[in-house]
Amino acid sequence: MQRGKFITIEGTEGVGKTTNIEFITDCLSGHGVELLVTREPGGTPLAEEVRQLLLARRDEAVDETAELLLMFAARAQHLNRLILPALEAGKWVLCDRFTDATYAYQGGGRGLDMAKIAQLENLVQGSLRPDLTIVLDIEVQRGLARARQRGRPDRFETETVRFFEQVRATYLSRAAQSPERYRIIDAGQPLKQVQTDLKALTDNLVSNN
Ligand code: TMP
Repeated sequence: MQRGKFITIEGTEGVGKTTNIEFITDCLSGHGVELLVTREPGGTPLAEEVRQLLLARRDEAVDETAELLLMFAARAQHLNRLILPALEAGKWVLCDRFTDATYAYQGGGRGLDMAKIAQLENLVQGSLRPDLTIVLDIEVQRGLARARQRGRPDRFETETVRFFEQVRATYLSRAAQSPERYRIIDAGQPLKQVQTDLKALTDNLVSNN
């Protein structure tokens, strides 16, 4: 059995991940790909409980290392209980955020040491990395304006513009370092154009499989 492909989708707040994940799902399903769509933090009952802990706004300041470890605790559960079994059964997995988000938010945004994140990545994932990471990119202020229409912000959405500038810069620099694994899509374009780009990308992925 050929292992499925592991695709992740990333971006700062308000880039349109939800709409575009639905679109990619339709494209891949149209090609007959058996697909598991999931998200981080979350994806299993335990990991979804950890997500609630991470996203809740609270009076107590959250220690950055505690936040980092909770992200990887949720990821270990998600990876071993859901993602890996699906990939091994030949399914493709489309995951709304993965470890690039940890580099971007905890590394770039919070300023934690990237080498420590890499250690945890190796501990939790061994050699597993996504086959493709799609970065939906938009100017921070534009994305935040869109995200703020969605109701009460969670703990991350209350961060400063400067924080999200660091998050965005980290995504873009990681993509520039490994262009074979990343595709940057300009999410500031009209939706129709974004989806034309995504369709070309998914068609290409299926035909090269
Ligand atoms: P979402 O709103 O895109 O579902 O993601 C939840 C929040 O969690 C988002 O603000 C980014 C943040 N996050 C991290 O800070 N580190 C991570 O490793 C992941 C997966 C998400």
